[in-house]
Amino acid sequence: ARGVRRGADGALTVAGLDVRELARRYGTPAYVLDEDDLRARCRDFRAAFPDEDVYYAGKAFLCRAVVRIVAEEGLHLDVCSGGELAVALSAGMPAERIGFHGNNKSVAELTRAVDAGVGRIIVDSDDEITRLTELARRRGVRPRVLVRVTVGVEAHTHEFIATAHEDQKFGFSLAGGAAAAAAFRILDEDVLELRGLHSHIGSQIFDTSGFEVSARRVLALQAQIRDARGVELPELDLGGGFGIAYTTQDDPASPADLAKRLRKIVDGECDVERLAVPRLSIEPGRALVGPAVFTLYEVGTVKDVDGIRTYVSVDGGMSDNIRTALYDASYSATVASRASTAAPILARVVGKHCESGDIVVKDEFLPADVQPGDLLAVPGTGAYCRSMASNYNHVPRPPVVAVRGGEARLIVRRETEDDLLALDVG
Ligand code: LLP
Repeated sequence: ARGVRRGADGALTVAGLDVRELARRYGTPAYVLDEDDLRARCRDFRAAFPDEDVYYAGKAFLCRAVVRIVAEEGLHLDVCSGGELAVALSAGMPAERIGFHGNNKSVAELTRAVDAGVGRIIVDSDDEITRLTELARRRGVRPRVLVRVTVGVEAHTHEFIATAHEDQKFGFSLAGGAAAAAAFRILDEDVLELRGLHSHIGSQIFDTSGFEVSARRVLALQAQIRDARGVELPELDLGGGFGIAYTTQDDPASPADLAKRLRKIVDGECDVERLAVPRLSIEPGRALVGPAVFTLYEVGTVKDVDGIRTYVSVDGGMSDNIRTALYDASYSATVASRASTAAPILARVVGKHCESGDIVVKDEFLPADVQPGDLLAVPGTGAYCRSMASNYNHVPRPPVVAVRGGEARLIVRRETEDDLLALDVG
């Protein structure tokens, strides 16, 4: 986060507020959001894509305060469940700026989306088209839809977060003709308005060649639809997935660079296919919120294991950040509550859960005098950490604290043991 500095006595500050003060007030672990950093990232994307729509992918992290921030910054919002839709609507996001995703939307979810008047529904299966058609007819409305196309691109990212190769659950396959058939079917349904095609190739992607291939393939389908039906679809969504720097080895493109490359790809392909350039939209999640948050932990134990490595245990772990265990993700950590001149030692930051895979940071050099009571900060935890948090071992989920101009405000409170016990009604 851009607002994080070392203060005069060596402790970290965020937007001018000392992390020790944050820990005193809100406890640890806590997710700390640098609000101006999030706003700056929204503005960077907005400025880079002025004629396009930028949908914030709420699955990365959603709460009402964040919905209001992205709305104020002029973004749209992508939701993928009834729960995310409820948060968005209750925070006042205008329904027409919401896109609704999901490979298995229930009738109840579709009804809610249609009744709220969401701007677009990204359809993902024949069953969904059937459901949505019946619903639209019953309700006397004409929802706007995009067809999610599986373009057959092998994105260079972890298998679990790649989504456009053929053998997975999302979208309509391009190769087998399912995507074209879905588009024709929707064009034949007078109660659905086909606005365009959608593709999302995966997440944490640095190499834009995947977008090049996917744009080429969806625009070829767009041309096929024009040739068959004489309709040029007005919109095209290329999804999200833009990578961020979790460690110093990662080198992400700026939104401006990204915009330049995506536009060049789309313009070039439209030229080849003799298509009018559709209105473009994208759906970044991680790139907006990921770098704007760090997790603040307190060290509980420091254990040297046979001279192999030092295990530094913090008061959270895989329940607040599953990404290391699930995707072998890389994070970094730093002692946040003080400066140290001690020599660096190779450490592994682990959590408090009953599982040896409960690792937050696999390898990090920490000062040899790291000790219980120190605060540790793990940066880059804004995306897919709080949103994928669990109560494993009945650990309550941490709060989210937003800091701006030296002031902190709680935007998601810490769960309590009473919250957990309240669900246990047996
Ligand atoms: N659009 C669609 C249709 C998506 O499925 C996703 C992410 C996004 C946009 C946003 O992707 P982003 O820009 O945030 O990379 N839990 C995994 C990531 C799963 C991503 C799922 N879909 C992780 O922690 O890396």
